Amino acid sequence: MKAILVDMFTAGTDPTYTVLEWAMAELLKQPAVMHKLQDEVRTVVGNRGNITEQDLVHMNYLKAVIKETLRLHPSLPVLVPRESTKGIKLNGYDIEAGTQVLVNAWAVATDPKCWDQPLEFKPERFLNSSVDFKGRDFQFIPFGAGRRGCPGLQFATALDETVLANLVYHFDWDLPAGSKELDLSKFYGLVLHLKSPLLAIPTPYYE
Ligand code: HEM
Repeated sequence: MKAILVDMFTAGTDPTYTVLEWAMAELLKQPAVMHKLQDEVRTVVGNRGNITEQDLVHMNYLKAVIKETLRLHPSLPVLVPRESTKGIKLNGYDIEAGTQVLVNAWAVATDPKCWDQPLEFKPERFLNSSVDFKGRDFQFIPFGAGRRGCPGLQFATALDETVLANLVYHFDWDLPAGSKELDLSKFYGLVLHLKSPLLAIPTPYYE
C-alpha cells in the first residue's frame, strides 16, 4: 500500500503540474491563443460560475491546447528505460537481447517528417485530427505506450483540463508590468520544467 502511494505521488504530481505551467506560459506568449481558449470556455460555461466535467466534453480547443502542450513540452521527454528481451534486427541495426532502450518521445513529437512547423505552438493542428496520446499514435507518446505506459493518463488529463479551464475562465492573465519577453528555456530534472518559474498576474473576470 505504501509503495503504491509513493509511486502515485512521485510519478503523478510533477508531470501534472508542469503541463499547466507550460500551457500557461505558451498562452501568455500568444495572447490570440489565450483569447480563443477563453472564448470557448466562457461560451460553454456562460455565467454559471463553475465548470463541470460535462462542460469539458464541449471544449475541443481546450483539449487541443493540452495536447499541444504535451507535444511540445512532454513532462518526460525520455520515457522510462526498457530492455529488449530478445535479439532483433531493426532498421538494419542488430539489437542484442538485454540492450537498454531509451525512447526520446520529445524528438518523435517534434520530428518534421510527422509534424508541420514542429517547434511552433499551434493547438489547431489537433482540431481535425484523430491523433491522440493514448499510445497508439507513435508520433505522439507523452504518456508512453504499451504495458509500461502511464496508468495516470485519464486522471492527469481530466485534472489538467479542469484546472486550465478554471484558470482561463475566472481570470484574465498578464505578464508583470515591464517584464521582458517570456523565457521558455527548459530545465531537465526528473521532469521537464520551465527554467525560470512562471510569473503571471491574474485579474478576476466577471461576466
Ligand atoms: C500530465 C501528467 C502525466 C504525464 C505527462 C505522465 C507521463 C508518464 C510517462 C511518459 C511515463 C512512462 C511511460 C513509458 O515509459 O511508457 C509514466 C509512467 C508512470 N506514471 Fe505518469 N504521467 C502523468 C501523470 C501521472 C499521474 C497523475 C499518475 C498517478 C496518479 C502517474 C503514474 C505513473 C506511474 C505509476 C508510472 C510508471 C508505470 C510503470 O512503469 O509501469 N502519472 N507517466
